[in-house]
This record gives sequence, structure tokens and C-alpha cells, in this order.
Amino acid sequence: MKISGKTKIVGIFGYPVTHSLSPLFQNAAFKASGIDFVYFPFLVKPGDLEMAVKSIKSLNMAGVNVTIPHKKKVLAYLDKVSPEAKMVEAVNTICYRDDKLIGYNTDGKGFISSLTGEGGFDPQRKRALVLGAGGAAWAISFALIEAGVRRLSITNRTKRKAEVLLNHLTKFFRDKCEIMLVDFDKVNSSTVMNNIDLLINATSVGMHPEDPLLVNPELLTPHTFVYDVIYNRKTKLLKAAEEKGLPCLGGLGMLIYQGAYSFEIWTHKKAPLKKMRDALKEQRKCFVT
Ligand code: ATR
Repeated sequence: MKISGKTKIVGIFGYPVTHSLSPLFQNAAFKASGIDFVYFPFLVKPGDLEMAVKSIKSLNMAGVNVTIPHKKKVLAYLDKVSPEAKMVEAVNTICYRDDKLIGYNTDGKGFISSLTGEGGFDPQRKRALVLGAGGAAWAISFALIEAGVRRLSITNRTKRKAEVLLNHLTKFFRDKCEIMLVDFDKVNSSTVMNNIDLLINATSVGMHPEDPLLVNPELLTPHTFVYDVIYNRKTKLLKAAEEKGLPCLGGLGMLIYQGAYSFEIWTHKKAPLKKMRDALKEQRKCFVT
């Protein structure tokens, strides 16, 4: 990687940030595309977020990705926010252009591209169940409704958080789709599991090898597609779905696609998806068990 006086800086603001795979695949993408950008991890403490966002302007950076725990708070420091980011109330990409900081959210679009592109699953008129009510669940729920699901069910360990998401979704999409809440302790019933076409784990459960299996895939009908947002390992959920012969996919594609959309926002060039994936595949050998 050659750094010159013309090199543009991008990066990721997070706390923690050391686990992020974005520097790896974004730098691989810039290199493969011959784009003179370099991507850094920036450890930004919660109290320093405003200052860090201001520094995008003062350092004339091309933009940044934003991750935990800054995705919501960062909205307050931007000049403009895209309609998706406004709806989801979270920003994962900032672009600095014409003296303005513009916030986007590419997570939902990344999920849909992975689901349809790699998974070959068309969400139109389907019934989806989302496990979780955190940032990933918000982005995925909005994206699924926009992609045309017929019914969206939400369930979460902390019911209050699922209610907040449900109320928010209803505000935007009252007539577009049936949106409902499922009690977390009732999710493992054949009434719920038999009546979905798509199951998404949007919780952080599965990231660690000792994590439990939240749902019983034995209850799913053979056509149900199982998507797990966890990308650092093959989760118990994915293993069980695979054993049952269900179509299924882990979250690596969502990670790559959301990054590819950020790349395209910053550079106006098509992202080299295969190079990004190859860079990650190499790295994954080190930690996937
Ligand atoms: P992200 O932005 O990655 O979605 P998050 O906002 O911290 O992360 O959300 C994590 C999600 O995983 C939440 O839905 C959380 O449930 P709670 O709202 O009840 O905390 C869910 N989660 C984490 N650990 C869990 C567990 N052991 N069992 C069930 N759900 C869990």
C-alpha cells in the first residue's frame, strides 16, 4: 500500500474496534480497485464521539463507518441523514462531501443483498420471524418490510425493547405489512415456527461457542430459510438447520455487502465483492473453529 499526499482517509469509529474486520476487507477492496484510499480503525470513546465526527471535516477524510456503541448517538452530529438511516435511527456510514457530513445506513440493504443474492431467497409476500430487538434487528426489520414481506414477527428476551421496535415499525408501515410481537418464551411452539418462511437470528447469541440455541429448528417446516447474522463461526442454529436440510446462511455476506455499499458511497465505484470476500476468507481461517 503506497501512501501519498493524495491518499484519502476512511475508517471505522467504534468502542471497542479491535475486533472489526472492516479494515481488512476495505483495504483489500481499495487495493484491488486501484483507489488511493486507506482505511483505519479508530477507537473512539463514547465521550469523544462529537469531537471525532468533527475531525472528519478537519482532517478532510472521505468518511467513516460507525459501529457499536455510536450508531444512534452519531445522528446528532451530522449535517444530513438519509431516509433509511432516519427510519432505523442509526448510521453506519458517514460520507464527507461538499463540506457536509451525510449519514447513511447500509446494514438493511446489506442484509437483503445477502439474503437474495447469496441465499436466493425472495422475501416478497413471505412471513418472517426476527429474533432480537437491537441494532441489527432494527435494520433487518425495516429492510424486510421494504422488501415486501407479508408478515413480520418480532421476539426479544427483553419484551420492552421488542415493543419499542414494533411501535416504531408500525408508525412507518402500518398498511404495508402485518407486524406482530411474539413472546420470547412462546417462540418454540409449532404454531409460531410452522408458520414462517424465514427465521433470522439478529441477536448476538451464537458469537461464543458456549452460547445456547434459542430456537428449536426441529419445529421448522422444510422450506423455511434460516439466516444467522453471526459471522465469526458456524452457530449451533446454522448447524442444526443444515442437519435438518433447511436452506440457511450465516452473516458474513451481510457484513460484506454493508461494507460494499459504504465503499460505493465513498468512491462512486462498484465494490469488488469477490476480493472483499477473499480477504475475509483468508482471515477467517485463523479464528473459525
Ligand atoms: P446489535 O446492535 O448487534 O443488534 P445489541 O443492540 O446489543 O446488538 O442487541 C443484542 C440483541 O441480542 C438484543 O436483542 C439482546 O436481547 P436483550 O434486548 O434482551 O438484551 C439479544 N441477546 C443478547 N444476549 C442474549 C441471550 N443470552 N438470550 C437472548 N437474547 C440475547
